[in-house]
Amino acid sequence: MSDRIHTLSGYIHEYQRSVNDPEEFWARIADSFHWQKRWDKVVEWDFDKPDVKWFTNAKLNITENIFERHLYTLGDKPAIIWEPNDPNEENRIITYKELYQMTNQFANAMKSNGVGKGDRVIIYMPMIPEAAVAMLACARIGAVHSIVFAGFSSTALADRINDCTAKMVLTSDGNFRGAKSIPVKAVVDEALEKTTTVEKVIVYQRTKEEVTMKSGRDIWWHDAISDQPEEYKAEVMDTEDMLFVLYTSGSTGKPKGVVHTCGGYMVFTKYTFENVFQYSPGDIYWCTADVGWITGHSYIVYGPLLAGATTIMFEGVPTFPDAGRFWAIIDKYKVNQFYTAPTAIRALQAYGTEPIAPYKLDSLKVIGSVGEPINEEAWHWYHSHIGKGKCPVVDTWWQTETGGIMISPIAGVTPTKPSYATLPLPGVQPVIVDAEGKELKGNSVEGNLCIKYPWPGMIRTTYGDHDRCKQTYFSTFKGMYFTGDGAKRDEDGYYRILGRVDDVMNISGHRMGTAEVENAINEHPKVIESAVVGFPHDIKGQGIYAYVICDMEGRSEDNLIGEIRETVNKIIGPIAKPDKIQIVPGLPKTRSGKIMRRILRKIASKDTGNMGDISTLLNPEVVEAIIKNAK
Ligand code: PRX
Repeated sequence: MSDRIHTLSGYIHEYQRSVNDPEEFWARIADSFHWQKRWDKVVEWDFDKPDVKWFTNAKLNITENIFERHLYTLGDKPAIIWEPNDPNEENRIITYKELYQMTNQFANAMKSNGVGKGDRVIIYMPMIPEAAVAMLACARIGAVHSIVFAGFSSTALADRINDCTAKMVLTSDGNFRGAKSIPVKAVVDEALEKTTTVEKVIVYQRTKEEVTMKSGRDIWWHDAISDQPEEYKAEVMDTEDMLFVLYTSGSTGKPKGVVHTCGGYMVFTKYTFENVFQYSPGDIYWCTADVGWITGHSYIVYGPLLAGATTIMFEGVPTFPDAGRFWAIIDKYKVNQFYTAPTAIRALQAYGTEPIAPYKLDSLKVIGSVGEPINEEAWHWYHSHIGKGKCPVVDTWWQTETGGIMISPIAGVTPTKPSYATLPLPGVQPVIVDAEGKELKGNSVEGNLCIKYPWPGMIRTTYGDHDRCKQTYFSTFKGMYFTGDGAKRDEDGYYRILGRVDDVMNISGHRMGTAEVENAINEHPKVIESAVVGFPHDIKGQGIYAYVICDMEGRSEDNLIGEIRETVNKIIGPIAKPDKIQIVPGLPKTRSGKIMRRILRKIASKDTGNMGDISTLLNPEVVEAIIKNAK
């Protein structure tokens, strides 16, 4: 593992090297992978178009780098340890060799059902090993997977199927979450009424609840793999062929399909995984994310498996059967690296230290955080009570679009600082720019966070709409990738992420566009207009506050609010349900008709002391009325 950083001076040296000669730097890291054909050029890029290619003309299959490369040495080593929702149900331990066979078998099953290289496959599944098998089988045959978080509604699922014109859906009958069993296949059935491209649906039997199977379209997973060989020769992929599409929210109403490609994503996820978590052979690693989000893609499946690690997959929730479940799992498997979200930390912090007391947690070496800013109080609680004061907290900043971790401590190697993501990883060149795009050099500066040089794991395009990629990420500040986040670099040069500067909220670490929620609210027939903002929430980080103008004729406010909430649930899913809905007589607008969200954000966060100058508003009187009835 020549690309491993072990000391602070090693970090400084590697960082300088990566800036002085990025091509030499990345070529050295990429050299340790198995390529069917080596690259002609390390990177070719133009951020204006944008057009970015890594390891040009190289050929590979990412699954050969997971399986063939490890089978001789690690064949009998556990690749995935699966912990079921119900602690009394038996767990599953799947070795590299078994995972390889399962992947090949399912690859053959998909092939026999008409899916080939370049076809899009939607994965809408619970947290079971078969979700990883589905991803890897797609990668093995060159199909493009697009995972939709199994908590999204049928409408959201249908939109994604239609956007990428998917040919196949992989799903399950149901999903065990805590004390509940949630229907999954039924949601797929509903979604498929609004789509025309899906030819086959393969259904894994998990909960054994009754589902309808449409003849000619729906096949049971166990039937699809029976008689399929456990060998499949990996498809030869170009480094820039699509590996997957993952939909994420932006500032417009429609989620966009972030496209990642084979070679660069592979190199970046393994490199960042090994370094940030200081993974050593034999370690047991656990990331609590869901495979429906980018964290699950990069740091449950691809990064750890490329590194030959043992990765835990947990089906359930942190509070079932009780609030000690995470800690029980850490002790049960002697977890060495634990990676979770601030919202989970805050939720468990609220139960106090009693649920932790029965557990030793002494196997832990590194604890990580991802998805949203971690407040100092939660950082300290995590550090003292879970890390017992001896485990470095890696606060990892990154995005769906970056593919992997960009700014983060390297565990035990570079310093940590509560609520700071600290320093960029070697190979990552962040800059802070002012509103005009001028780079703010030196320390003690604050502004918009951009990246000025490409990195292998970066977004290549937005599916089916390249111009959207250009407009969203490469047009605000010329010649740079714009993250949408605000950041400060403190007097020591450490980065602190300040949150989104666009109309994107971060609800329990999940990205949600304000416009997306507004569109859903506006579907209710009594709604005339709405405006949505985020507000500080103790557990979720941000909550959703909706201001709604309604036609109230013949309706009670309480009923209407309940119905609006249900409309959002149906159109997007439970994660987008507003925490607060206020029926208002009007929305504060400028003379050109633009909603003044700044004012609405202040009211939602109960910061009404100084509303700033509102005299230029078209309707200053509504501000008072909204404040009076604020929730
Ligand atoms: O605002 C930042 C926040 O999450 C956004 C990315 O969301 P998503 O694409 O869903 O990916 C989440 C998992 C990587 C960022 O623009 N964010 C992510 N990590 C951090 C963070 N904010 C502060 N600190 C972090 N460590």
